[in-house]
Amino acid sequence: MPLLRIYEAPDPMLRQISTPVEAIDDELRVLIADMFETMYDAPGIGLAAVQVGVPRRLLVMDLQEPSDPDDEDSPPIRQPRVFINPVIESHSDSEVPYTEGCLSVPDQYAEVMRPDHIRATWMDEHGKRHDQELDGLLAICLQHEMDHLEGVLFIDHLSKLKRDMVLKKLAKARRERGAIAF
Ligand code: NI
Repeated sequence: MPLLRIYEAPDPMLRQISTPVEAIDDELRVLIADMFETMYDAPGIGLAAVQVGVPRRLLVMDLQEPSDPDDEDSPPIRQPRVFINPVIESHSDSEVPYTEGCLSVPDQYAEVMRPDHIRATWMDEHGKRHDQELDGLLAICLQHEMDHLEGVLFIDHLSKLKRDMVLKKLAKARRERGAIAF
C-alpha cells in the first residue's frame, strides 16, 4: 500500500469543503488503509481525507496512547478508528486549551480552545452507525479533524498575528528543506 502525499498549508486543497461519503466500497476501504499507513508513518494521531487530496467526509484516527500512562516511551496502544460522515450533535459550553499540531502544518504547534465534551454521530468502515459522548483527547482530535472537512485549519482559531507567524515559519522551514535537497 502506498504512502499518500499530505497536502500542506497554504495549499488551496485544504480549503475545500468535503462532500459526504456515498458508499462504503472497495475503493473507500483502500483509501482508508492507505490513510492509516500514511498517518502512522508521518507520524500523527488523525488524518482527514482532504489532507491527502480527497475532499470527502472521512477521517481516520488513532490516539496511540502509551500502554503505561506513567511512561511516555512505553509501546503505544493501537486503536484505529474510522469516522465516515461525522456530525457533532452537541457540545459543552466549557472549553479547554490543548496544544495542537497538524500534519498539514508540519512542526508547528499552538494552543487552541475547544469544547471539552461533545456528542457525535458517525458511521464506521463497516457501515455501523455510532452515537457517542466523547471527551478528552478523542473529543479534541475529532473536532480538529472535522474542521478539515470544512476547510478549516487549527491555525484559523489563532489571532491573525499568530497565524501569520506560523505560516511564515512554515514557509521558512520549507525553504530550508528545499535548500538541503539541492
Ligand atoms: Ni490537522
